[in-house]
Amino acid sequence: MILVDGLYSADGDFAPLDEITALAGEHDALVVVDEAHSFGAIGPNGLGVADHFGVLDRVHAVVGTMSKALGSVGGFVLTGKGLERELRYLAPSYTSSRGSAPGVAGASLASLQLVEEHGGDLRARLDHNVRFVIDGLTEAGLNLMRTTSHIVPVLVGDEHKTVAVSNWLMDHGIFVGTFVHPHVPSGEGRLRIGVTSTHTQAECALLVERLTEARNKFSL
Ligand SMILES: Cc1ncc(COP(=O)(O)O)c(C=O)c1O
Repeated sequence: MILVDGLYSADGDFAPLDEITALAGEHDALVVVDEAHSFGAIGPNGLGVADHFGVLDRVHAVVGTMSKALGSVGGFVLTGKGLERELRYLAPSYTSSRGSAPGVAGASLASLQLVEEHGGDLRARLDHNVRFVIDGLTEAGLNLMRTTSHIVPVLVGDEHKTVAVSNWLMDHGIFVGTFVHPHVPSGEGRLRIGVTSTHTQAECALLVERLTEARNKFSL
């Protein structure tokens, strides 16, 4: 069994699912993809990185969460009949946990309907915002990692400096993820910017402005 994330949350890069599914085919292996960070945001149908590479029919199970693009709580597994039956009877987290509360299920369902009906437009806006942010930060000379997604990590390096920059940004109206060891290798601390489709142009511009100030202030 090959278990991978579709989109990796610390670097913003995709698993090469075209190569991985080909390899799995050669070795008769099952492929399970965690699309937590990509479901709703990546691929022509918004189904994630397997959708992006056009290999959904070669993936045996997609694991996802309602807590990121969908803005709710709970998780799901998309799979075929054989695996589904085993999971229903054998997965402790399924057999021994409560299901979603009705309000939570309603919120998840409403989000799924939005993805289905307006996903194309939302993803186009997301792509536009991502391009704007990446171009702006690159032009400002920040050390961007080579992301292929809406997860835009800015490499800072030193752990203490990473936390200091993040706190300074928070004090100046910008919330970014703070990734330090052991979440990422030692000395590779980074700020994780999560761009969304609902960020306005003004908000994206403010982010670039503040990070440019931070670059000068902290010699990033
Ligand atoms: C790759 C991955 N899978 C699963 C999850 C779990 O999601 P949840 O917080 O909804 O349990 C996360 C959360 O960040 C994640 O990064």
